Parts: sequence; C-alpha cells; structure tokens
Amino acid sequence: MFFVFLCFLFGSSGALLDPDTSNGNSDHTAILQLITQEQSLRLQLESQLHDQQKQMDTLLSRVNNLTDQLTKANQQVAFFGTVGTNIPSADWNKIIKFQQITTNIGSAYNINTGVFHCPVSGIYIVSCSAIGDFGHRVSVNVYQNGNIIARPYDGGIDPAGHASGTDTAVVHANAGDEIYLKDFYTGLTYLDNQTKLVVVLIKAD
Ligand SMILES: *[C@@H]1O[C@H](CO)[C@@H](O)[C@H](O)[C@H]1NC(C)=O
Ligand SMILES: *[C@@H]1O[C@H](CO)[C@@H](O)[C@H](O)[C@H]1NC(C)=O
Repeated sequence: MFFVFLCFLFGSSGALLDPDTSNGNSDHTAILQLITQEQSLRLQLESQLHDQQKQMDTLLSRVNNLTDQLTKANQQVAFFGTVGTNIPSADWNKIIKFQQITTNIGSAYNINTGVFHCPVSGIYIVSCSAIGDFGHRVSVNVYQNGNIIARPYDGGIDPAGHASGTDTAVVHANAGDEIYLKDFYTGLTYLDNQTKLVVVLIKAD
C-alpha cells in the first residue's frame, strides 16, 4: 500500500509540477500536503516497524530461553554401579572403581579412573551403600572435589553377617566437579563386592 501511494505521488508529481498546467499555487499546496502526509505516514510506519522489531527480539529471546530450559530439563545423567570384586584393605586409600555398571546415562562415570565427572552444573543426589566382611565395621568416604559429602558407616558387630552402611547426600555441583569414593575402613579384611554407588542429576541449573 505504501509503495502504491509513493508511485501515485511521484508518478503524478511530474504533471502537477509542470508550469504549463497553470493552477500553480493550489497545485503546490496540494503537493506539499501530500508530501507532509507521506512524511508523517512514513514516520508512523517506521516507528511501528521499530516497535514490532523490538517485540520480535523479545519473543526470540524468550523462545531461546525456553529452548535452553527444555534442553536442560530433558538432560539425563544417572549412574548406578557395583564394585564387583572384593577390594583388599591394603587398597583403602585408592579410588574405588565400580566395575559392574548397570546405568551410566550421560557417560559421566569413567570406569578406568572410578571418577564421576559432573557434566553440567546442578543438583545431584549421591547415595552409597558399603558392605564389609563378616563381623567387621565398614565405612567409606564419598568425596566431591576432595570434600567428604557422605560417609556410609556400620558398626558390624554380628560375626556371622556382613555389615552394610548407607549414606545419601544432595549437593550442588559445578560442571567438571568430581565425585568419587576412597579411604575406606573394614578392619584388616576387604570392602565387599556388593558395595554400590548411585549418582543422579536431579536438576540442571
Ligand atoms: C532470557 O534469559 C536471560 C538470561 O537468563 C535473561 O537475562 C533475559 O531477561 C531472558 N529474556 C526473556 C525475554 O525472558
Ligand atoms: C563377592 O563377595 C562374596 C561375599 O563376600 C564372596 O563370596 C564372593 O566370592 C565375592 N565375589 C567376587 C567376584 O569378589
């Protein structure tokens, strides 16, 4: 419409400006009116366009934010592993490796090092159950970057039974944080092969 209007204005202006077609003053006034109208219309349209552009930018930014949130909400990180073989007490201060892996969604757990690397920052639940030898106490430290966040412990007084202690932590972790187990205690025997670890991302930031 705007384009048509301009064509009309400039298409006819040649004839209107022609001095031979007399009626000079009223023609000029009409042209000036048209030009003024056109200018104010153009300004209106420009300002409308500007407003719409701003609204579009806001909408795009909202869509991007929602897409980000959806991606994060759908992200799955979950580990569930069992030690698998008895670990002799001589290895008490080595990082415990979980060799029977039931779940490692997101591949955050490194089976070679025994370290769970948090792939995104967010809230994680970490739960460990440790089992010791017959009649022995059992405890093991669960670390996040060198800080103890959980420590399953059991007094283990039944000489005919395996003691089992469980502890659970809910922590905020940054991307790259490391969660691992080491420094266990089971007297002079071993940490049982049914010791288990669960780490699940509850919600990304
Ligand atoms: C999109 O997210 C950014 C960063 O979280 C925030 O600053 C901005 O206000 C959000 N935009 C909209 C339109 O919600
Ligand atoms: C697992 O632990 C049980 C009980 O201590 C033991 O009988 C079994 O031999 C162990 N298996 C392995 C593979 O370490």
